[in-house]
Amino acid sequence: MFVKIEGTGSFLPERVVDNFEIATKVDTSDEWIQTRTGVKTRHIAGEKDTVASMATEAARRAVRDAGISPEEIDMIIVSTVSAEQTLPCVACEVQKALDARSASAFDVNSACSGFITGYQIAAGQMKAGLIRTALVIGSECLSENVDWTDRGTCILFGDGAGATILRADCRPEEIQIPAVLHADGSKGHVLTCSVGHGKDKVPFADYYQMDGREIFKFAVKKVPEVIGEILEKSGQEVDEIDYFILHQANRRIIESIAKRLHQDESKFPMNIMDNGNISSACIPMLLDQLRREGRLEPGTKLVIAGFGAGLTWGGFYLEW
Ligand code: ACO
Repeated sequence: MFVKIEGTGSFLPERVVDNFEIATKVDTSDEWIQTRTGVKTRHIAGEKDTVASMATEAARRAVRDAGISPEEIDMIIVSTVSAEQTLPCVACEVQKALDARSASAFDVNSACSGFITGYQIAAGQMKAGLIRTALVIGSECLSENVDWTDRGTCILFGDGAGATILRADCRPEEIQIPAVLHADGSKGHVLTCSVGHGKDKVPFADYYQMDGREIFKFAVKKVPEVIGEILEKSGQEVDEIDYFILHQANRRIIESIAKRLHQDESKFPMNIMDNGNISSACIPMLLDQLRREGRLEPGTKLVIAGFGAGLTWGGFYLEW
């Protein structure tokens, strides 16, 4: 008995920026970006798109898809690293917009592991018998914090939101949560971004600073390990898994993980080509895409895993 995803929704800003447009800003090429990252296009937020507005639109679609009323939602969790404001939190903005009166609401920040963190918090609350229905969202406006003169980072990121409605239709004590979360703060320096006030009260804003090679090495080592942990907890064999839904950081990272697990790449759906890396929004958006394509049937076996800044990583097993 798992905490099921009963509804999904996503939102992408209208404006599409392709690699050719990026190449007019920095010294790069469509061929380099596609070969090294897999990214062809990304969506960039317009003037009216905010982390909260994108989260709300994705949430509305997930609520509609689940066929529930917003009043049934007990908890709203928004994962984001790019909210325009510190207070109020994005989840409260979503609660207000949906008029989800019964819901508690808070944000989490574990970067690209944020959606899997949100799922595990909500699932734990359900197992404790404290809530029945949760709305878990990943929403990001990464373009705001990208240095558009840095070819090492601006090629990768995009904006958007993905939302899921979670529910367990069984008694709390029957819920299984085959899940793991990890962190290694000692490696936090490999991906940083600071916005705020320093000790002298001077506002500062530093764009994403990334050691791409270190993150690459971290991901291809830790993600197969964590998938092994999840399989052990769930009692599944790797060959039994229908899809591995991974954070979309770089196509080569995903291909390398597929190879290490001796699994066909077709079991690793991707949206990085069209959307780039949207941090915590990637995974719920990918789930929404697969659901709309009819690729998620009751009983479909999924391993969902994320990794990112912090450093953080983890995942969970789920039967659709
Ligand atoms: N266009 C052309 N050349 C480039 C570009 C570019 N956009 N970027 C770097 N180069 C050059 C470098 O200057 C370097 O040139 P040199 O050999 O003359 O010094 C050469 O290409 C190779 O650079 P590398 O940094 O080694 O390139 P790499 O193959 O590692 O690709 C990349 C860089 C795409 C950033 C890769 O390391 C990567 O994707 N890493 C993971 C990043 C990631 O996942 N980040 C986010 C994860 S966490 C989160 O999602 C928030």
